[in-house]
Amino acid sequence: MSQPPNDVGIDDVAVHFPRLYLSTTGQFAAARGLEPAKLVRGIGVEQMAVPDRHEDAATMAASALLELMQRNRLGPGDIGRIYIGTESSVDEAKAMGTYVIGMLERIYGRGSFSECSTVELKSACIAASYALENVSLWAGNKEGNIGVVIATDIARYSLNSPGEYTQGAGAVALLVKRQPRMISLDQEAGFFTRDENDFFRPLGMKTAVVNGKHSNQCYLDAVEGAFASYCRSARGGPICPPHGSAVTDAFDHILMHIPYPRMVEYAAASLFCQEWQGLDRWNSVEAQIGPLPRPGDFPGPAEYQEASSQYQRRFARTPEFIRAFSAKVEPSTLLSRRIGNIYTGSLYLGLASLAESGHLLAGQRCAFLSYGSGCSAMVFSGRVSRQIGDVPLRGLLKRLQERSELSLTDYELLHEGARSESAIPPSGEFALLGEDEQGYRHYDWVK
Ligand code: HMG
Repeated sequence: MSQPPNDVGIDDVAVHFPRLYLSTTGQFAAARGLEPAKLVRGIGVEQMAVPDRHEDAATMAASALLELMQRNRLGPGDIGRIYIGTESSVDEAKAMGTYVIGMLERIYGRGSFSECSTVELKSACIAASYALENVSLWAGNKEGNIGVVIATDIARYSLNSPGEYTQGAGAVALLVKRQPRMISLDQEAGFFTRDENDFFRPLGMKTAVVNGKHSNQCYLDAVEGAFASYCRSARGGPICPPHGSAVTDAFDHILMHIPYPRMVEYAAASLFCQEWQGLDRWNSVEAQIGPLPRPGDFPGPAEYQEASSQYQRRFARTPEFIRAFSAKVEPSTLLSRRIGNIYTGSLYLGLASLAESGHLLAGQRCAFLSYGSGCSAMVFSGRVSRQIGDVPLRGLLKRLQERSELSLTDYELLHEGARSESAIPPSGEFALLGEDEQGYRHYDWVK
């Protein structure tokens, strides 16, 4: 595998998640009248990370950045850009990166990041992917340009709502440079954008407004659209599927935005269903579940859509689908099952899942399917670098084990902002100490 000098991409990934979590299957399921099997299998979330009183999206971003710098022995002067994708902004005007730099300068010294540029991007869960596109273009331009993309979010829905069991919190920091040790990005991408009311958070609201089932369908439509756009751009370039095979066959890993792990099963079923039409393997699928529904066989679009999603549920039970899904998609959901949705970071949490579980092997091809409500999707791809073995593991599974479980009462108090103190007092971490009378936030490193 040759790596040209301007080869650019993701060199390393650092992940931060809160020390607190709520199990979905215990008191929570009982109190909400839900069967644990629905949450574990039907949704795919077993535990949700919950931020403590002193944590917000900025402290999580600062923690992920600090870890990334320490893992790679980088100083502030080495980093030229810190672009943050978030929908959990802490200010309507001031960029979150300035608070993050303020926190890091508590450690590295005041003014140490003064030559670094920072910007905050908002586009629901897809923002960090647009940040990655931008920072990688800049990093690819010149040897020595090193940038960081941080995805940081708190996914919070109203108590007792169907979104509640898909919450989570965390930050992922990506080191972006030439000659990356993890993923060399292809210079191809596909896009899809449409105005939708699937999920949004009007100014001043603390929780999102979500039209749940509609949001699932928007995700599927947008990812399908962006994948088709990617295929038009990448065929004949980095992707040349031989006759009788599909574009998805060219990928060892298909990573997707993971609002909850079951969603990626729906999306994979929709994608493979579309991609496998006309191939030999489709004959075997049709022999088991019959032909695809056709729009003309139904009185209207709603009936056709319902029949199509029932068909895709049946397709998802065929051995052909299960084989492809288990090999290419499911391993990336490992961490999300125990952290929940982290919005902008969830696609990259999938990358960390693959890295931590030893699934990323040199030369493998990865597709990235990014989605943001509102809505927009972007599909891009890359190749696992030869130096992947040089990137140390992060001990994430052990860190998950070391977290503390919250009682339902404490979770609800934290959720409603009704706890006057942290559940675990901050120690060895960044903490939000409070807001002053002007609304400026004060953070510090607490020893
Ligand atoms: P729900 O009401 O829990 O859905 O809402 P459900 O009742 O249809 O149940 C889900 C599945 O569990 C079904 O499977 C049930 O059968 C199954 P299916 O029929 O589809 O195959 N089930 C069981 N399985 C096993 N054992 C049982 C059992 N009982 C039922 N006993 C929904 C689910 C996701 C809509 C809700 O949680 C929600 O509104 N979540 C928030 C929105 C969301 O995550 N949308 C995803 C797409 S949008 C997106 O990804 C963007 C986002 O990340 C934000 C951003 O971009 O910024 C959200």
